[in-house]
Amino acid sequence: MNSLKIGIFDSGVGGLTVVRAVNLLLPGESVVYFGDTARLPYGSKSPETVIRFAMEDADFLLGKGIKLLVVACNTASSVSLPALREFADVPVIGVIEPGAKTAADVTRNGVVGVIGTLGTISSGAYQKALKSCGSVNRVVAQPSPLLVPLVEEGWLEHRITEMVLREYTAPLVSEGIDTLVLGCTHYPLLKDALSRILGPGISLVDSAESTAEEVAAILDAHDMRSDPVCGENSFYVSDIPLKFQEIAQRFLGRAVPLVTHVEVGDLR
Ligand code: DGL
Repeated sequence: MNSLKIGIFDSGVGGLTVVRAVNLLLPGESVVYFGDTARLPYGSKSPETVIRFAMEDADFLLGKGIKLLVVACNTASSVSLPALREFADVPVIGVIEPGAKTAADVTRNGVVGVIGTLGTISSGAYQKALKSCGSVNRVVAQPSPLLVPLVEEGWLEHRITEMVLREYTAPLVSEGIDTLVLGCTHYPLLKDALSRILGPGISLVDSAESTAEEVAAILDAHDMRSDPVCGENSFYVSDIPLKFQEIAQRFLGRAVPLVTHVEVGDLR
């Protein structure tokens, strides 16, 4: 059991921010990653469709023999965790609760902002998770649908991205937030731009890091840590791998030479 891999999926490349955080925190663990690049984006789709996709993604990774499943997509985490937990015979972790808990620890004035896809913000999952933490008094949520395409384009420091970020964050700033949850797997790549725009008075919470900590805690609780050898990553995508490899290099900071294509129809 301990030598099995950790399964991680996302609608595309964004979940690689979680892979990077897991690799850093748990270098001995092997990861099998699935990016549903053929059906991306999930953020603008209905909850029913996202749940169906998430179940198929999970089924594919469970077929690889994994010891833990990480839903490294905020949109999928916001609607599909109950169904996935019923379906999977391994522990299932989403990215929303770890991010919310960190934000609750970080906030000083109890006013927390969250940005995410339309699907994530409309689900109310962050709002619910944050409000269940005692230290959070008010949550200000802002759908930010233009950010995913800008990150995929690599426009991390572009003046258009800066304008869009200013537009999305202005209402949160005027509500007095002191903490901002980056509620989408793509947003950690915009951390530098956001820090510059928001200044040192607003803390940014990256759920990738808190999710990796949650993975470590679950492995310890179930005594499932792998033997201390160097872990390996393997990558699968549902569209042709070329674009994924290009963007993955930006997300992981290193080349991803081997990515295997799997047809959507073969996921189950
Ligand atoms: N991975 C998605 C999320 O974290 C963003 C991309 C998409 O919309 O599919 O919500």
